[in-house]
Amino acid sequence: MATYMEMSKEELLQEKAELEARFQEIKEKGLQLDMSRGKPSAAQLDLAMGMMDVLNSSSDLKCRAGVDCRNYGVLDGIPEAQELLADMTEVPANQIIIHGNSSLNIMFDTIARSMTHGVMGSTPWCKLDKVKFLCPVPGYDRHFLITEYFGIEMINVPMTMDGPDMDMVEKLVSEDEAIKGIWCVPKYSNPQGITYSDETVRRFARLQPAAKDFRIFWDNAYGIHHLYDDKQDNLIEILMECKKAGNPDMVYKFCSTSKVSFPGSGVAAIAASPANLEAIRRQMTIQTIGHDKLNQLRHVRYFKDIHGMVEHMKKHADIMRPKFEAVINGLESELGGLEIGTWIRPRGGYFISFDALPGCAKAIVAKAKDAGLVMTGAGATFPYGKDPQDSNIRIAPSYPTPEELAVATDIFVLSVKLVSIDKILESK
Ligand SMILES: Cc1ncc(COP(=O)(O)O)c(C=O)c1O
Repeated sequence: MATYMEMSKEELLQEKAELEARFQEIKEKGLQLDMSRGKPSAAQLDLAMGMMDVLNSSSDLKCRAGVDCRNYGVLDGIPEAQELLADMTEVPANQIIIHGNSSLNIMFDTIARSMTHGVMGSTPWCKLDKVKFLCPVPGYDRHFLITEYFGIEMINVPMTMDGPDMDMVEKLVSEDEAIKGIWCVPKYSNPQGITYSDETVRRFARLQPAAKDFRIFWDNAYGIHHLYDDKQDNLIEILMECKKAGNPDMVYKFCSTSKVSFPGSGVAAIAASPANLEAIRRQMTIQTIGHDKLNQLRHVRYFKDIHGMVEHMKKHADIMRPKFEAVINGLESELGGLEIGTWIRPRGGYFISFDALPGCAKAIVAKAKDAGLVMTGAGATFPYGKDPQDSNIRIAPSYPTPEELAVATDIFVLSVKLVSIDKILESK
């Protein structure tokens, strides 16, 4: 089949008329579909319902250390929860502090603390003329919203299949003292599903930043979120790499059980060097008397250990895999060879990233909405919501049922085709 670029104006108009008729047919069904946010489906949430039964009024509510989890105390989190989340994010249990229900919340607090009080004794960022952050793109919209909220200038760094463009990261970080951090989703990244290569992680660990208070914000949100048993990505552990490279304090690692147990009711943590953790504790002792230990206990009693968690994630994968494959197969069969878009087939995580012809993303998202399909807003994957190419669209296949997903994919590919034809016709 000819690509759309190769087709004559007449052929394109003919194709457009046929596609438009199909689009109208679907539109008349008055559907309401949502592929916008990476929320687990109800079936995935059902997987962890047993957690609701592990604690009751006759349970022993003391943790291993003998502390009564119903009461105040144990700022770092109960030891067995530290162990579980440390194993989940592959760090020693004494290098992690358990927080509340959201890792994003810890990231926000970490930036807020750096703004008001500085990083381990450095000048508070709010007293500096300029603070900048590197933002690998496309990336996670909520990261960018945090840095935007604090007035931090964001610099786009293109992603490659190995992670962020490290030549650019090394150059910028070593030359500009105003650059204080970089947002990273190093495994099954949001939205591309890319895992940083060994070399990328090592280059991160060996960075020589001009700013002594530069930190890598390593958001390992999808560390154990594989789709397959046999084809799994592997990420080297950054905390150890930084230590080996003589930069032990350069990284904060974030993780949570949001997409393992219940989003919004999971357990989140930060892992870092002892010096960083000490600085964090200084704020924490003022901020809180302790986080929710009953929830920590519930998680530990339910999963028992990392092996229990890994087994649990296989059940998630069984639900997620067919959904990812339905979308990818739809893209491949309907758009393959047309040269009007590219996408990556991820092996884990929550998203599929689609790159349309430049200048088409906003129009595709609007077109899909016209037929009742809500997608993540075009531009959301870039700082300030501005995709310079207007090309990237994030697809979140987790929430709809498989049946809904088949229709949603139909609407999406039709929208891509129709908008692309209009774009190509402009130049014919
Ligand atoms: C990369 C990334 N980090 C963090 C989060 C949110 O995590 P939490 O629920 O722990 O705040 C998400 C949720 O979509 C995410 O995609």
